[in-house]
Amino acid sequence: MSTLPSDPAGPAESPVYRFDDPGRSISISDPNLPTPWINYLSHGSLQAFVSQAGGSCLWWRSPINFRITRTRSWMNPGDAPGFYLYVREQDGTVWSPSYKPCETPLDQWEARHSPGMTTFSGRRGAIEVAQSLFIAPDSETLVWDMEVTNHGTEPVTLDLFGYVELSQLGFSTESGWGYYIRHMFKTWFDQEHQAQLYLYHHESHPRLADIPLVYFVSDRQIASYSGDRQEFLGAGRTERNPVGVERGHCGNGSLWCGDPCAALQTTVTVAPGKTERLAYFLGVIPGAIGDFSAAKEKLSSELVRLRAPGFVDEQRAKLNGWWGEHFTPFDCKLPDVDSERQIRTWTPINCVHTGRYSRSFSQAASGLRGFGYRDTAQDMLAIAYRRPDWARAEFLRLLNHQFADGHAVHAYFPDDKQASWTSVHSDDHLWLPMLAYALVAETGDLDLLSERTPFLADDGSGKGAEATVWEHLLAALDFTESHLGAHALPLTLSSDWNDCIGRFARKGKGESVMVAQQYVFVLRQMIELARACGDQKAVELLIGRLQAQLNAVPAHCWDGEWWVRGFNDDGLPLGSKSSSHGQIWLNSQTWSVLADCGTREQQISAMDSVARILDTPRGIKKLHPSFPTFPEVPESFSGFSLGCGENGAIFCHANTWAIIAESMLGRPELAWKYFRQLVPHVALQEAGLNRYQCEPYAYASSIIGPENPRFGWATLTHVTGTAAWMDIAGTQYLLGIRPLLDGLRISPCLPAEWPGFTATRVYRGCRLEIEVRKPVGVVGHVASIVVDGQVHPGDTVRPDWIAGKKCARVEVTMTPV
Ligand code: GLC
Repeated sequence: MSTLPSDPAGPAESPVYRFDDPGRSISISDPNLPTPWINYLSHGSLQAFVSQAGGSCLWWRSPINFRITRTRSWMNPGDAPGFYLYVREQDGTVWSPSYKPCETPLDQWEARHSPGMTTFSGRRGAIEVAQSLFIAPDSETLVWDMEVTNHGTEPVTLDLFGYVELSQLGFSTESGWGYYIRHMFKTWFDQEHQAQLYLYHHESHPRLADIPLVYFVSDRQIASYSGDRQEFLGAGRTERNPVGVERGHCGNGSLWCGDPCAALQTTVTVAPGKTERLAYFLGVIPGAIGDFSAAKEKLSSELVRLRAPGFVDEQRAKLNGWWGEHFTPFDCKLPDVDSERQIRTWTPINCVHTGRYSRSFSQAASGLRGFGYRDTAQDMLAIAYRRPDWARAEFLRLLNHQFADGHAVHAYFPDDKQASWTSVHSDDHLWLPMLAYALVAETGDLDLLSERTPFLADDGSGKGAEATVWEHLLAALDFTESHLGAHALPLTLSSDWNDCIGRFARKGKGESVMVAQQYVFVLRQMIELARACGDQKAVELLIGRLQAQLNAVPAHCWDGEWWVRGFNDDGLPLGSKSSSHGQIWLNSQTWSVLADCGTREQQISAMDSVARILDTPRGIKKLHPSFPTFPEVPESFSGFSLGCGENGAIFCHANTWAIIAESMLGRPELAWKYFRQLVPHVALQEAGLNRYQCEPYAYASSIIGPENPRFGWATLTHVTGTAAWMDIAGTQYLLGIRPLLDGLRISPCLPAEWPGFTATRVYRGCRLEIEVRKPVGVVGHVASIVVDGQVHPGDTVRPDWIAGKKCARVEVTMTPV
């Protein structure tokens, strides 16, 4: 639809990065990128992110209250401070393997992000230093695994300084009260343990007893140390040129007030042609205020463990094992390398991060948002088939944040003793049945539905009445059914999935077409579940409700060529040709197909309108035309500038439903176009590095739309619902391998020019080796499948065909439609 603005920088031919697909990593060769490209290191409890240039942050459990080191995300694209290693050569030259903060020119440099690990390698003259960072799976510690290689002919002696800037734990508290609470901590060097320690003791911390003792240690002898940032950095200096490194001694200072840091110096001598390996560990012992002597004892035993020979290698192997388990349930080999790389490696990595951090913390996000209710329910859809135990636990926690009347909180803070957000939204609770369905379809475990678990108490402060999971799900539907508006469609309430749409429903009368469609979608799933668990009464009740919505939506919401998006408080349509702005919204078109609501002709017409009006070469706009904002109009839709965020950006999460819709309609050309144009590497290549700016491996929340001069700029990567739904769109709709209650359906939607593809999928304990073949040049569909040589009609692998098998071969031949 739109033409592209000319980009002064022009498209990048990826000179700055290279993927290693078998190794599932990316190597970056330029530290000076337009914005930090981060990797997350975490085992779910101790967490960190680190950028290609060393900018990083470490936190324990929650970035709200337990930040261990500082990051200045509000100074984006600035990227500091970090887990900095300084190499001081004998002639006084100082450099860092992460290039920054020293910025000393190096002869060779690379940053490599791989699952759960980032490695910086720098070489200056004959000296090469590699710094690998990862969280040890069995400990609350960030390992700095370092190798110093001497490529020269003479022995060399080097000083290695590790340095981090310590935080005051509570991010908001620090921002507001840092100048008082900088008198409430200690840093000191513990001679017995050779450990630089830090204990913060702000008495009003919400989880005072849990405050951790922070340690920074090495497996080598310590030459000097500091807990005093001013002493280590020096007056008028920054991390780029610390005086402690320059003078070759940290200063050995401790603090009871002021600006803390942890710095350590070790000295290594490396023989010619040899490599010396050493490690630093930056970790936490939780509960230090609650019981300090227990924490000290734990520190002693922990340090023995960390420093034991073999610990670092064993933990590296364990980390790789964890990721191996995560990748194993689904793998594929496709004729399109960009899609293959994204589907088999980077999207599943991204899904782990959204599962752990929701929309909360990144190089660009403050970390204050906790877990969005609808967000986590959707994120877990992509975890359900890879790690059902994790998704199940999170599902039960979601149910514990649901009120007995069926609606749910909007966000919760499991690690912060902070009240949930209780604004009432029309969709939050409606994502629950989808997750329940995904879990049962994957595992076959219908018992999940009879498990008992409490609602949230009515005042939002603890446990309420207990009910079965099934009762929780029915309550969710009851809430929607009891909140219908004048057109018999669900009321919008504070919002539906679109955060800002509530502004059209402030008087409580606005209605949401997307929620009506979402309701239809989950009613269909719930009817299947009710049948599977033999609840005939529910089947009848839900069929009645389904029929009512299937009548109401086409009766009131068809605008001639597409679906309106809702009705405002005055009963006027949103997203209609008669609207001044926002004449067409993406979600009510895509969800009509997902929910199978309206006739096929209507669904096709709606999706054709998407292609004609909303699609751009850089993704699909969320609505069109964008709403004007201040100062042009006295009242704005959302305050977002044209083409930004909710107001006409290419909102990537919403694009995923267009991919699914086109796959369901059997239109691979559009489905794959929509998919490919958002594959981050493809998007970056298309727009150019200086325009796109963000990581070519993590999804962006949105890309600025064509009505804005910055069209093509990716914003807020990693922490976006795009990840989970792209995973589902890719594996379950484009490649079509989708768990349903009666088995694993294999119904791909492949580009005409593809000859097929192969995939492996672990399903109910059996590794399926799937080969899909189709004639080139046609769009195919599946009429029968062959499982271990046995021909079966249909497209679904039934669980009993593979029961007890460790492995099975599935051959699928697609025939022309
Ligand atoms: C943001 C929110 C999400 C919402 C979406 C669309 O990503 O985190 O909850 O659904 O925006 O408004």
